[in-house]
Order: sequence, then C-alpha cells, then structure tokens
Amino acid sequence: MYNNDIMKRKKIIIGNWKMNLSLPLAQDLILKLKSESEKKWDVDIAVCPPYIYLAQVLNILKGSKITVGAQNMYYKEEGAFTGEISPLMLKDIGIQMVIIGHSERRQIFKETDSEINLKVKAALQHDFTPVLCIGEDLGTREKGKAEEYVTQQVTNGIKDISKNDIEKIIFAYEPIWAIGTGKICSGEDAVKVNKAIRNILKEKYSTEISNKIRILYGGSIKSANFGEHISNEDIDGGLVGGASLKAEEFAKIIDLADKAMVTI
Ligand code: PGA
Repeated sequence: MYNNDIMKRKKIIIGNWKMNLSLPLAQDLILKLKSESEKKWDVDIAVCPPYIYLAQVLNILKGSKITVGAQNMYYKEEGAFTGEISPLMLKDIGIQMVIIGHSERRQIFKETDSEINLKVKAALQHDFTPVLCIGEDLGTREKGKAEEYVTQQVTNGIKDISKNDIEKIIFAYEPIWAIGTGKICSGEDAVKVNKAIRNILKEKYSTEISNKIRILYGGSIKSANFGEHISNEDIDGGLVGGASLKAEEFAKIIDLADKAMVTI
C-alpha cells in the first residue's frame, strides 16, 4: 500500500520504437493501439517513433489519449547543425515529450552528461516533458556501484534545474546490460536504484517534490516479466523498446500497469 504521505503517481508506459518499422507498419501499429486505448486504461501512454514518422503518427492519434514523443532533440533552436532537429521544429508539429540521454545516444553517439543537461533544459524551456534516461553498464553493476553511478548521472543531468521545472521531468532507469538483451533487471534491484534516484531528488529539492516525480524502469520489458516491477510503488512505469513494436504485446504491458494502479 502507498504511505499516506506519498501521493499515488499515475503510471506511464512509453514505447521507444528506436530506428524500427516502416511507415505502413507504424500506421498499422498506431491504429491498433488507438482503438485499444479508447476502450480502457487509466494509465498514461506514449509512443516515440522515429522523427520521420512523427507527423503521420500525430495525425492518426489526434484526439486520442496517447502522447507522441521524439527520441531525441538538439538543444539549439536553429542554425548550421546538419542532421539535427530543433525544439522549435518538434513544437511546430505538436510533439509534447522527448526522450533525452538514452544510453544508445550516450554510447553510440557519444553524448555527454553536459550535452544531456543542455537538452533537458531546452526541453523544459519549450514545454516538453523530458524523459531523462540513466543507467549503468554491466561492469559498474558487477562492482556494486550501480546506485552511485546512476545518482551521479542524475546529478549531472539536472544541473541548474529549478524546483518548478524538476517536477516536469520523467526519469527512466535503464541499465545498459538489460537493454535489448532479454536480461531484465530484477524488480528488487530496479527498486533499489529508483529509490536512490528519489533520494537524490529529495536531497536536492524536497520530499514533497521528489514524491511527485515519476521514475520508470526500462530494459527488456515484456508482458511476461514486468508484473513484478510495475506492481511496486517505486516503479512508476516502463520505457519499452522491442516489445512496443507489436500492438498486442504493448497493450498487454499497458494492461499490467493499469491493473497495478488499482491494486497498489
Ligand atoms: P528494450 O529497450 O525494451 O528493447 O530492451 C528499452 C529501451 O532502450 O528503451
């Protein structure tokens, strides 16, 4: 049960499509999800397609309760930044959410904590909901330093962010060794890290503020393995990669979150 002094946070399930699907497949997936979302679910739902499909997906989802997010964004508003997309461009087409600092951006595209901090600030300045990803690699976990490492990433990512703005961020703990590998981090271990994240938010801001912030888990989530995580009051939702590409499987994961809202 939730403590009386902890407000019940609404769970959220976010699909991160990464660089997957074709336009026809994306349209098919979204139409199925849209019709499912009309009949049930008291949880927040979002999908993050590749940039090139955002406008079409937004169009299909107009009037539905599914939020559309981008997978990344540059922090400058315009200029000579070949290949990048600006906050103003995302705003123009009606995007409301943006994933920032995904481990694939950090590892493959060498994004640093300070760039990620600039992106978080730009996202807030333009009224997006930033989904800030953090998570350790296997070596760090094996050394028993996961919480310490993630806490540092959070600290760097939210540098100079005001009390007002911090509440607008969604955090997603995604251990790198669990992403796309089929190896899920146990509920118990994920909760430990999520608690460490909430503690640092508490220290830097306040208990009241930290209790309002949603902290998700991500990494090899499937409907068959996520029940243990999502039913915990310290896991406020999931960032789902591979399993968000199939309407039926993604809907089952949303179902789990919906049931957890009732039973916690
Ligand atoms: P996965 O990806 O569910 O395919 O492991 C999660 C993510 O990278 O957000």
